[in-house]
Amino acid sequence: MKITIVGLGFVGLSLTSVLASKGNNILGIDVDEKKCEGIRKGISPFFEPELEKLLRHGLKKKLEISTDFSLIKNSDIIFVTVGTPQKSNGSIELSMIKNAVKAIGKILKNDKKNPIIFIKSTVTPGTMQETVLPILEKESGKKAGKDFGLISNPEFLQESTAIKDTKFPHVIVLGGYETKYMKIAKKFFSKIHPGIPIIVTNHQTAEMIKYANNSFLATKISFINQLSNICQNIPGANIDDVAKTIGLDPRIGKLFLNAGPGYGGSCLPKDMKALINFAGKVGINPRLLNAVEQTNKKQIQNIIQLIEKTLGNLKGKHITILGTAFKPNTDDIRDSIAIELIKKLLKKQVILTVYDPKAMKNTEKLFGEKIKYANSVSNSLKNSHCAIIMVYWKQFESINNNSIDDMKRKFIIDCRRVLSEKKLSSEYHAIGIGRL
Ligand code: UGA
Repeated sequence: MKITIVGLGFVGLSLTSVLASKGNNILGIDVDEKKCEGIRKGISPFFEPELEKLLRHGLKKKLEISTDFSLIKNSDIIFVTVGTPQKSNGSIELSMIKNAVKAIGKILKNDKKNPIIFIKSTVTPGTMQETVLPILEKESGKKAGKDFGLISNPEFLQESTAIKDTKFPHVIVLGGYETKYMKIAKKFFSKIHPGIPIIVTNHQTAEMIKYANNSFLATKISFINQLSNICQNIPGANIDDVAKTIGLDPRIGKLFLNAGPGYGGSCLPKDMKALINFAGKVGINPRLLNAVEQTNKKQIQNIIQLIEKTLGNLKGKHITILGTAFKPNTDDIRDSIAIELIKKLLKKQVILTVYDPKAMKNTEKLFGEKIKYANSVSNSLKNSHCAIIMVYWKQFESINNNSIDDMKRKFIIDCRRVLSEKKLSSEYHAIGIGRL
């Protein structure tokens, strides 16, 4: 069986590496030759735990990486995993997926195989029926459901646990018509993921499930962040104890109740905006979703207010940002709240020094000489008037009185409560903990 994956980002490259490492016949396609060149050498274009190991394993087996779409011919299964970024109005940009399915459609025209095309990219409800399917049928001159299968197959993996999530998903969603291709798809997934629930539904519901998932996660985060702001104003109250306890109620669940500076990354903010935009188009005022987004934006304002309240005018002040990735165990800074904070502080003419265990290269690419880059936590703190912990990196747990000794003003804002148990001789503010 030949399996092709089109689009080698987090989702595509994780899937490629997992399937290839198991000895499947895999073709990975991407339009970026430089990226492909690195992947062929076993180098991932981004940091993701376990990924390179599996990729290198796969490369020793039956894995080919190419920019040549014509190689797709004779595939039994094609996964489309290209990105769907956002436009300035919040709606999703479909050009990449349109180009990918157009290219696939052209190949199908002269293909004797009847492949199943799984669309993993996140797309708003209606996109499969109104955009993807017509392009494929037009370009191939063939009929979906008869000559080839077309199935919505949203992905739920998280960066930093992408390999584990690809190997052990919590659910498989298959959206489309009950054709012979759907039967093959069910068999295929129950073989590679035995015991995992498979939800078969139509395209538009499958598309909606993905947005429901991400917007619910964002809602949980904004909920706990709002509660953490309340806790912060109750002397002695602690948001982590609140979260831990309500998380024991099975109706609530313990995950995604970790208060912080707000949710970032390339998915939750984008998908929230896309869903809000989409709701408007179908005549719904998404009040709750809007509030979730506004609450998220407010978190960063609260941090800035706290710095200004303590340091006064920020012009010329030295501030250290600890953690620039959008979360721990990744080097991804896309839509990172720390990056947002840096941009806002630069506007206030703050002198910034940053440190992140993995994301320094990407941060430097973005800011160049506008900020300073430290090679360790303690170096980043030298001469600083304020340090802000934005990401829970394990390394930050080792901060102690020695590390902060050279700070000009010992003032720490801990957005992730990394140091909340320590007795530091500093002004210490933790998000979600009410100061006594
Ligand atoms: C998210 C979803 O979790 C995945 O299920 C989904 O497949 C993916 O988007 C996607 O659509 O591709 P990811 O972007 O990797 O995954 O990041 P998350 O782990 O969800 O974290 C998002 C943001 O929320 C981060 O900034 C993180 O720090 C923040 N967060 C998360 C919190 O502040 N508190 C929490 O309790 C959890």
